[in-house]
Amino acid sequence: MAEQGGSSPGLRVSGAALHGVRRGPVFEILVDGAPVVAYEGETIATALLGSGQIAFRRTAKRGAPRGLFCGMGVCFDCLVTVDGVPNVRSCVTPARPGMRVSRPGFEGEHDGTPD
Ligand code: FES
Repeated sequence: MAEQGGSSPGLRVSGAALHGVRRGPVFEILVDGAPVVAYEGETIATALLGSGQIAFRRTAKRGAPRGLFCGMGVCFDCLVTVDGVPNVRSCVTPARPGMRVSRPGFEGEHDGTPD
């Protein structure tokens, strides 16, 4: 997978590493126009990480990538735009089927096709 937009191989745990944990129903969200798998009960941040996205936004001033840091709604590093609403903390916002997520500062870096 390309490094475009802070991508890395998917970080989703699978197989024996799940240790019997059962996931909820699967669905898709759109991230920068591309479908991303999510499971009921996951946050947007979890779905992003599971798809290999580690950079969720770029800072306005220097364009530095930011992603999951505190993971509990305190640092605001994980801000994304959800269905047109800016500055949503992805680490505390549940993923919902069909939601449209965009990563501020990464506009135009993804052509909308799945990786
Ligand atoms: S990772 Fe810190 S607020 Fe989301």
